[in-house]
Amino acid sequence: MCGIVGAVSTKNIVPVLVQGLQRLEYRGYDSCGVAVNSTTAQMGQAPGLQRARSTDRVAELIAQVNEPTAGLQGFTGIAHTRWATHGAPAVHNAHPHFSRDRIGLVHNGIIENHEELRAELQAKGYVFVSQTDTEVMAHLIDSLYQGDLLQAVFQATQQLHGAYAIAVMAKDEPHRVIGARAGSPLIFGLGQGEHFLASDAMALAGVTNQIVYLAEGDVVDVRVDSYQVYDQQHLPVQREVLTVHAHSGAAELGPYSHYMQKEIFEQPRAIADTLEGIEGIVPELFDNPAHTSPGLAHKVLSEVDSVLILACGTSYYSGCVAKYWIERIAQLPCQVEVASEYRYRDSVPNPRSLVVTISQSGETADTLAALRHAQSLGMPHTLTVCNVSTSAMVRECALAYITRAGVEIGVASTKAFTTQLAGLFLMTLALAKAKGRLSTEAETQHLKAMRHLPVALQSVLALEPQLIAWAQDFASKENALFLGRGLHYPIALEGALKLKEISYIHAEAYPAGELKHGPLALVTNAMPVVTVAPNDTLLEKLKSNLQEVRARGGVLYVLADADTRISSSEGVHVIRMPEHYGDLSPLLHVVPLQLLAYHTACARGTDVDKPRNLAKSVTVE
Ligand code: M6R
Repeated sequence: MCGIVGAVSTKNIVPVLVQGLQRLEYRGYDSCGVAVNSTTAQMGQAPGLQRARSTDRVAELIAQVNEPTAGLQGFTGIAHTRWATHGAPAVHNAHPHFSRDRIGLVHNGIIENHEELRAELQAKGYVFVSQTDTEVMAHLIDSLYQGDLLQAVFQATQQLHGAYAIAVMAKDEPHRVIGARAGSPLIFGLGQGEHFLASDAMALAGVTNQIVYLAEGDVVDVRVDSYQVYDQQHLPVQREVLTVHAHSGAAELGPYSHYMQKEIFEQPRAIADTLEGIEGIVPELFDNPAHTSPGLAHKVLSEVDSVLILACGTSYYSGCVAKYWIERIAQLPCQVEVASEYRYRDSVPNPRSLVVTISQSGETADTLAALRHAQSLGMPHTLTVCNVSTSAMVRECALAYITRAGVEIGVASTKAFTTQLAGLFLMTLALAKAKGRLSTEAETQHLKAMRHLPVALQSVLALEPQLIAWAQDFASKENALFLGRGLHYPIALEGALKLKEISYIHAEAYPAGELKHGPLALVTNAMPVVTVAPNDTLLEKLKSNLQEVRARGGVLYVLADADTRISSSEGVHVIRMPEHYGDLSPLLHVVPLQLLAYHTACARGTDVDKPRNLAKSVTVE
């Protein structure tokens, strides 16, 4: 999704800006650009706003700015990676956008009233050269500009409806950048003789670790040797400066071909880190590091009578697994909702429900909006399972479980998913214990099983060569069906999502019992049917479903637990899972599906870490 970097410095800042864009590449983008505000005396190039833009990779933009004769230099600048929403990926739509060569602006988010504003500005004589909602803001600020950019931004933001994080500069104020945010994240970074803006801390990794997370509605006035944050009422405000250790993610690929492969293989370590130091199930595990509210987790977990889970994509599927755990082990009713649906539908709020958001990034716009919607409906008990401790999600939830997957670069989520499952299983046990439904013996058994997970995951990863062989078959297919039952139905959904998002093969998942109610019509010998077959209470039912597929000539690819007595035969390919893992089986069964998607995508030659049209962090609606 879109990324922002901005800076005011006493040295040429272009290298820092474009390197920041490179660190944001993992978020996904389809064009990029950088602009400087230079004076002749400063850099010996034409004064005023200058820019370079590209619909290629950031590497191509860097080549442009390094051109010996037509390069770009400046002490003050803004840069952007764009993920197209309004207007196609094209140079004229790429940011930074200029207004009358006086105002330069980059923007993340969506301005909902852009059409009305566009009409008003056109009536005033402004000529639009892009289809973006962003250009509206550049012209709006220009129309309000009377020599003080801060005042123009204050006035402009009052007219904007929607979500934005912006960095703006004015030709006539060459040592100043103004940042503002509402609904989209923006951070401010303090350096030595220079200050920065960025959409996330990773953009500034290696540049500064002194970070201010701007609050909703904040505007920040950035200069070389000073800065001032203003709140929603435009009053000066102090925001805490945090020391943040963001990893650049770059140059850490090691022996792996892609970040996704690396992240799949990091799962034993990620799970071990996520569970580190857990000796027993205590409510304090869910106290939020962003707030000081001792005892809150104990109170909340004891009081709630149901669970409402809100999430998107892969995080939604981890919530779907958790529903099975919560209803069976904690015996609490649990509802799982796609965040983008929940936020707009009429629902019946239960003030005693525990509202759980799940998010790798902690910045997903739909999930944040769903959380706020639930809060606005009078549901105060909120908990997030999140991988980024400094994210908006953690700041806005009362309780939190921070997963320790580490930075996830690949757009396709892998280690974030399994660590979410680990956090959600702990949450289930904590709820069960708070309700007096977890015996000491069961607690000990569950903890023992969790501690064994890293070792069990290692033995599943050793199956990679067999998945590479399956991937050769899948590479030539255009459709695939995934089946699972019970706890493993969401794993089938996750397997299908992985395959479609990185290999572009159309994949669908069904609870195996649903097959005969429609999708069986699709089954021919051209349709591979992947089945997750743990040795659980539904095994015999699942075996009957597999017979239904074979009888129609469908080719089965089965991930079977050792003792399921399902073996390879004509049209049936079986990979044996090393051991049966009971309640925690979904954490193991998903790994071969990640590897299958990964190797199929590699065999098809797709851009595995940056699949087309997708973004890592979906910060717009
Ligand atoms: O950061 P989040 O976990 O909130 O992101 C939610 C989805 O956008 C994300 O899981 C997406 O579905 C992934 N690309 C799936 O691999």
